[in-house]
Amino acid sequence: MSILITGGAGFIGSHTCVEFLNAGYDIVVLDNYSNSSPKSLDRVSEITGKKFPFYNCDIRDRAGLDKIFEKENIEAVIHFAGLKAVGESCRKPLEYYENNIGGTVNLLECMRDHGCKKIVFSSSATVYGSENKCPFKEDMKVGGTTNPYGTTKLYIETILKDLYTSDNEWSVVLLRYFNPIGAHESGKIGEAPNGIPNNLMPYISQVAIGKRDHLSVFGNNYPTPDGTGVRDYIHVVDLAIGHLKAVPVLFKQTGVEVFNLGTGKGVSVLELVHAFEEATGVKIPYEIVDPRPGDIAYCYADASKALNVLGWKAERDIYKMCEDTWRWQKNNPNGYDD
Ligand code: NAD
Ligand code: UD1
Repeated sequence: MSILITGGAGFIGSHTCVEFLNAGYDIVVLDNYSNSSPKSLDRVSEITGKKFPFYNCDIRDRAGLDKIFEKENIEAVIHFAGLKAVGESCRKPLEYYENNIGGTVNLLECMRDHGCKKIVFSSSATVYGSENKCPFKEDMKVGGTTNPYGTTKLYIETILKDLYTSDNEWSVVLLRYFNPIGAHESGKIGEAPNGIPNNLMPYISQVAIGKRDHLSVFGNNYPTPDGTGVRDYIHVVDLAIGHLKAVPVLFKQTGVEVFNLGTGKGVSVLELVHAFEEATGVKIPYEIVDPRPGDIAYCYADASKALNVLGWKAERDIYKMCEDTWRWQKNNPNGYDD
């Protein structure tokens, strides 16, 4: 019996593959490599010393999915596959709706037709919108997303809830990630963004390696202690372990369970810059510029439900996140292209 990991070659997916293999699970990986490299899966095998089947397949390709479900004995799915760039989603909303929502509906139809009704879905803190007050709790009203990417997460959550209502054999876990950063301790896998990074940590590490000359800090006038935006950064390995703790829920019960995966601690942009400098000894020049439209002042989790129900909490601190990011960046200045 295997767990199918869609988008398993990506940043979070590859780290999740490592944790599942180390825990003794059989996994099958599917990815279309639209935002990743198959080399990440070779590295997963190097780290774990284990081989596993992987397929170059698009979640929108029903015949391709059917072949995987016919060949492999898939018991449950961890669904990472999707497009995730906020800015790009504003320019190409149809591509985002088609890939993320169309692809997920196709995957769910295939799962249903093969009698596999257990799924963990990668959702995001973005579903809490801009009206709720931090810390965000799972039972808060969701909605008010400000970009098509965020809206795909909100709609897919709704689709999965509707699916359970229509057929309560389904077991669904929605994991709302806060801001995943860091890399595997080995320095062999990590985040490899295409082009100019949109997110803070990959930008900082590209400044550190000399690819960009300085960081632009988006606004210093927020109602936060130092005026810069506060986020809940979580080490990607802690996030991956969160999935390991969530999968047994699929086998214990049916229904829809929602968990925040965050540390519960807010860190500002300048605090992250200083932590990176301290952890690595590399100076990060920065300049304050205008705020980025759509950004909120605070975003951090109430992480108590995951602790109480799953027995999971994030263990790795912000220095470890910076050290591990830097090791990955130094060893792989061009990501998987080296
Ligand atoms: P990623 O881009 O590194 O990984 C996603 C993977 O899905 C990539 O390998 C990509 O090639 C693959 N993919 C995309 N469309 C596909 C398709 N149609 N068929 C098959 N494969 C496809 O991103 P990530 O950071 O690892 O994120 C994984 C998931 O977590 C995504 O759903 C993302 O939206 C969600 N998420 C990420 C963050 C974050 O900050 N990284 C935060 C919240 C939620
Ligand atoms: C963003 C997305 C969110 C998505 C997440 C992961 C928006 C509004 N939100 O979250 O939907 O789930 O990425 O992909 O885009 N910052 C700078 N300079 C930079 C980059 C960022 O100052 O060059 C600041 C931002 O203003 C923010 C913080 O750093 O305060 C974190 O930004 P980022 O890493 O992009 O994550 P989010 O905006 O939290």
